[in-house]
Amino acid sequence: MLTLLDEHVFEKIRIEAKDRYMADEQKINGNKTDYAWTHVERVYNLCVKIGQAEKADLDVLKAAALLHDIGKFRASPSGHGIKGAKIARHILKKVGFPNEKIEAVIHAIERHALLKEKRKTLEAEILLDADILEKFGAVGVAAVFLRCALAGDNIEDSLKKHWKWFERMKDYVQSETAKKIFDERYRFTKLFFKRFEKEARAEL
Ligand SMILES: [Fe+2]
Ligand SMILES: [Fe+2]
Repeated sequence: MLTLLDEHVFEKIRIEAKDRYMADEQKINGNKTDYAWTHVERVYNLCVKIGQAEKADLDVLKAAALLHDIGKFRASPSGHGIKGAKIARHILKKVGFPNEKIEAVIHAIERHALLKEKRKTLEAEILLDADILEKFGAVGVAAVFLRCALAGDNIEDSLKKHWKWFERMKDYVQSETAKKIFDERYRFTKLFFKRFEKEARAEL
């Protein structure tokens, strides 16, 4: 499906979302977060790439990507999708986003944080796909070290803990395009983790 909305609509959403995200991050989280605003921009880029290949509604997907973590600092990990969707609805109305597409954006945002709940649209699947891809590859490994530092863990324990979690996440990737990207990122991530273990044992 072709994008119908002008780019300035997404620029307005981006400004609203970024301002609120960064203010919350600083006020509520003291800037101590593993995913700064740049995470949202990376998810956006992945959504555009996957959405184009999968012929998704890019209007819905781009808005959902920019707003998907807007509730991140205001609710629990599983609750931030629902909380964020409420804030997103307000922003979408404010910028004049088409009414008939708002519910699809809301659904994608709500479900991206509820892994066990079914995603009813292609756009909701792709948003979660992109969010999962962020946890793998060079970007994913970098985030592990950031989380490790924030939690005051040692690297070995942190890598073990995250690897177990990573392995579970791959089952949730749905679209064929995301699966291809996932395979490549997964290979790199595994290589890095294995190499780290070998160096830690002085085998390399
Ligand atoms: Fe999220
Ligand atoms: Fe996210």
